Amino acid sequence: MRIESPRYTERVGSVRINDVQKVLELDSGRAKELPREEKIAVQKTEEDTIKDLEEKMAIIIPTKDEKLKLFEGVISGVPHECLIIVVSNSQRKRVDRFRMERDTLSQFCHFTRRQALIIHQKDPILAEALREAGYTELLGEDGQIRDGKAEGMMIAMLIAMIAKKNYVGFIDADNYFPGAVWEYVRCYASGFSMAKSPYVMVRILWRYKPKISTGMYFKKWGRVSEITNRCINSLISTKTGFETEIIKTGNAGEHAMSLGLAKILPYASSYAVEPQELVSIFEGFGGVLPMAHQAAAKHGVEIFQIETRNPHLHEEKGEQHQQEMLLPGLGVIYHSPLCDKDTKQMVLDELRQQNAISQDKEPSKPRLYPPLKKVDLQQFTKAIKEHIDSYSALEGEQ
Ligand code: GDD
Ligand code: MG
Repeated sequence: MRIESPRYTERVGSVRINDVQKVLELDSGRAKELPREEKIAVQKTEEDTIKDLEEKMAIIIPTKDEKLKLFEGVISGVPHECLIIVVSNSQRKRVDRFRMERDTLSQFCHFTRRQALIIHQKDPILAEALREAGYTELLGEDGQIRDGKAEGMMIAMLIAMIAKKNYVGFIDADNYFPGAVWEYVRCYASGFSMAKSPYVMVRILWRYKPKISTGMYFKKWGRVSEITNRCINSLISTKTGFETEIIKTGNAGEHAMSLGLAKILPYASSYAVEPQELVSIFEGFGGVLPMAHQAAAKHGVEIFQIETRNPHLHEEKGEQHQQEMLLPGLGVIYHSPLCDKDTKQMVLDELRQQNAISQDKEPSKPRLYPPLKKVDLQQFTKAIKEHIDSYSALEGEQ
């Protein structure tokens, strides 16, 4: 795969944010020595390197009552070497949708001879394991793991740690194009191969996110991402004193991290999770507040933003849903200890303009979870050990 080399890097404390890098070629052919001039502008990641990294990667697919056909397409696009971890919060009562997902995944794994794990977010065994591992923050009053995409991602990250993976990548289950899924994972691998620090994050920017109106319109920016990016950039600008537009992936649902980084970041609940990751990185390593982790501060935290070739098309969940995404995302910016007066005002203006809050209100503070390193992994592993086989899509086949 060929990707543009990072042309511009913004440095904030120990954080290095690379400007968007475009994918030039999805398949760059056989490995050969590149002429030196080419290396300056272009980053070629060889197939073997991509495969090696995919082998170390778990792809986490959060899902909640998505169309089965879409889910089926998504799993077919995940490269063979990756371990798939599906974390589902789908209904089990009237129609057991989880069962249907499980069956679909099992059949896929059976015929493709690969490994995958599937867990349900409300599985009492997982909740109990968290309790025993000293991480009750993720549990609600009913003793179960709370609802939300972020909550699903977090439990799946713990499973990836048990599976001894080095990287996690996230892909939504409502994606229409298996080819796009395949490309996301290759971008993750490419980003990881460029990283100089073990604390690395790769965030996807899609080239187009088509809208169907009269015919198809290849739109690039969604309203929610535009606003979120502007507010995060303002947060950074006021700290450095130089206005910046560096962040273009504030809401990127499709993103990946080294587990080294994943373990040390605080997370926000539900759809606030992606903007909060960036805010957590700036808070922890931006140099304004005390450094959150010595080793990561020393190596630096690297962020790559990679623009894909495939357009992104996913389920449209309506206007109301857009607001449900915007509000918590801006809430994390507003309530960050880094947030200055001007950025706060910007957040309020945006939210009021979108009618997301009334004139005299502030956005509420999203729930924050402590970093996963707080989980006693040994204890957690011990608690689910007997059940881990039942999470395998190939249960009973080995
Ligand atoms: N396990 C689990 N638990 N999964 C969930 C839950 C939950 O409670 N809620 C939603 N999901 C799954 C959905 O089924 C989907 O696969 C994925 O999480 C994203 O949720 P959507 O509801 O489709 O979100 P979206 O498409 O509006 O927003 C996505 O893209 C944004 C940026 O473009 C999300 O990934 C956002 O987090 C992201 O910011
Ligand atoms: Mg979606």
